[in-house]
Amino acid sequence: MATAELAGKHLVLGMTGGIACYKIAELTRLLTKAGATVQVVMTEAATQFITPVTMQALSGRPVYTSQWDARVPNNMAHIDLSREADAIVIAPASTDFLAKLAHGMADDLLSTLCVARDCPLLVVPAMNRQMWQNPATQRNVTQLRADGIDVLGPDSGPQACGEVGDGRMLEAAATYEAIASFFSPKILSGRRVLLTAGPTFEPLDPVRGITNRSSGKMGFALARAAQQAGAEVHLVAGPVALETPWGVFREDVQTAQHMHDAVMRSVADADIFIGVAAVADWRVDHASEHKIKKTAERALPTFTFVENPDILAAVAKLPHPPFAVGFAAESGDLEVHGEEKRVRKNVPLLIGNLGPLTFGLDDNEVIMFEAGGATKLPRADKQTLARALIVEIAKRLPDTSLIR
Ligand code: CTP
Repeated sequence: MATAELAGKHLVLGMTGGIACYKIAELTRLLTKAGATVQVVMTEAATQFITPVTMQALSGRPVYTSQWDARVPNNMAHIDLSREADAIVIAPASTDFLAKLAHGMADDLLSTLCVARDCPLLVVPAMNRQMWQNPATQRNVTQLRADGIDVLGPDSGPQACGEVGDGRMLEAAATYEAIASFFSPKILSGRRVLLTAGPTFEPLDPVRGITNRSSGKMGFALARAAQQAGAEVHLVAGPVALETPWGVFREDVQTAQHMHDAVMRSVADADIFIGVAAVADWRVDHASEHKIKKTAERALPTFTFVENPDILAAVAKLPHPPFAVGFAAESGDLEVHGEEKRVRKNVPLLIGNLGPLTFGLDDNEVIMFEAGGATKLPRADKQTLARALIVEIAKRLPDTSLIR
């Protein structure tokens, strides 16, 4: 998860009435853990769902609920609370509050604070699907966007009322990512990034197959970092158990051939291709249609393998390739194999994992191979490393890729 963007940031977290208030407890914890200062302001309705005491304990600051709070020396809470803020985040944002914002109403502390702000405003809607789809709500949301307010979500799925549809609040982690994304420098703005991540799965029969230990964490971290840097991101993922990073378009595939086909369908639009997936080099020539059974003679099964397409090399071979980046996991002699692999695949940049194979771990140390030589990046958690790599990739982009 991103943390650097939020360290030292001062946020006013405005809570309005809705069952999604429970998610704000976790969101506050994530924000404060990342080093942000969180000033909670609650509407009267929000206090019906979660107590100010809980929010005070989690944010480590007094919570404000009233315009007439005597703790503010000049009695101008609506001005003072937002003056040092880098942003106001309204989460959950109720139907009623969106309507108030759209019309510039100021009849309680939180709405007055929003009208009197001199910082960006982000809203995270949470409501029943009918309330979200109501033409009045949709009109208000269009107006908020036109006023330069960021609307994060909503999500789709089961709702507290038992109905299913659009309107539920983003999960706490996704809200956190969206806020981090808001503060990230947009060094990839206007660029399209295509990535592969995770392992592939090559079937032997309907129940068995060959895969590898790639967790997909590095590829997902890069997808998240690219999205936060302002890129439009398309992630082609092998079978992994990871949440899709907020704002990223994800396409799930199983085999190397599927991954190859998915990449080839989309690569013409990409400015950057990052091949992080641990693609199986071989597949069984003819996977059995039926489960392979033990025979009475106990004969061992034999398989004939054929080579899978090399996705990275195929992308690099295109007449107008995107800026293509490869990854290499080696069990030894990385310094030799890394540069050799970069040249063989004909890519400008190849990232090698230093040290022991790091499948599934959260930390990594990498070395960048390119024509000018090799450069190490300091050991860090995968998200920090991903952010550093996105900065390095952005620095190396030819300007012409903007007009591909
Ligand atoms: N790669 C790919 N398609 C393949 C094999 C690898 O796109 N069929 C990409 C990986 O996503 C990675 C890079 O090529 O970016 C290097 O992968 P790696 O498995 O280390 O290289 P191989 O070419 O498979 O070489 P070897 O296994 O012999 O080391």
